[in-house]
Amino acid sequence: MKIIRSPSAMTAWSEGLRREGVRIGLVPTMGALHDGHRALIRAARLRCDALAVSIFVNPTQFGPREDLTKYPRHISRDRALCRKEGVDVCFEPTAEAMYPERFQTIVTLPTIARRWEGEVRPHHFSGVATVVTKLFGIVRPQISYFGQKDFQQSALVRQLVEDLNLGVTIVVGSTVREKDGLALSSRNVYLSPDDRVRAVTLYRSLQAGADVIRRGVRAGKVIQTAMHRVVKAEPSMAVDYLVVCNPHTLEPLSMVTGKAVLLGAVRLGPVRLIDNLLVTAF
Ligand code: PAF
Repeated sequence: MKIIRSPSAMTAWSEGLRREGVRIGLVPTMGALHDGHRALIRAARLRCDALAVSIFVNPTQFGPREDLTKYPRHISRDRALCRKEGVDVCFEPTAEAMYPERFQTIVTLPTIARRWEGEVRPHHFSGVATVVTKLFGIVRPQISYFGQKDFQQSALVRQLVEDLNLGVTIVVGSTVREKDGLALSSRNVYLSPDDRVRAVTLYRSLQAGADVIRRGVRAGKVIQTAMHRVVKAEPSMAVDYLVVCNPHTLEPLSMVTGKAVLLGAVRLGPVRLIDNLLVTAF
């Protein structure tokens, strides 16, 4: 497995392969890889001839009071996982190489980024959209893989690719969960043992929403009340949002009539957890 740090060397590697008709896959990550990333890498490995994983803790998607400096970094463990899964290149650029002094372009998607995570983390999605656009420009993949756990992010990336004609197929892999249902996340390591036990309440509240839909409830407000009821029973958990939305526009639904996504974000002590479930009302 090659480790490439310079963006121009990364592009040279890809361009050489593209000229030979090789299908290149990219799994963009911020490192601290877990089984959720592993599942994306495995799916990509099956479908792509050459596979790059980018490991870059992108500073522009962190707010001033967020965990950029504390974000978990385990580069040797990440490289070992990539090697084991047959990754061809780990692309590990520095922040200086990605954002040199003269850098000034910001990519924003004002509508899809407005609500939910966008409301709580105002510049987060312009940071994500900008770095993903750069990674696609540098790595030039034909296919790229994102996790469903970051539902709004994957919707935003699909929109970005469509709007800017980037020619990258986006594949969204299902959320990988712990045995009790907690969605895997690099930030779960911040949970205290007690909060780790409580953390599954978010998933349970989404399941409660899905259950009432299965039982025939269609009114958005009633579905949201069912989700809130579960979280209220866990007083140490504070809700940022628990909503039922259109899965394409991410606008809240007053009535569920087909596909919908239940989106949730809560705070447990210093940790913020997000999760979602896709549901269909027949
Ligand atoms: O989901 C992530 O890990 C990041 O937001 C991404 C897509 C790698 C961009 O930095």
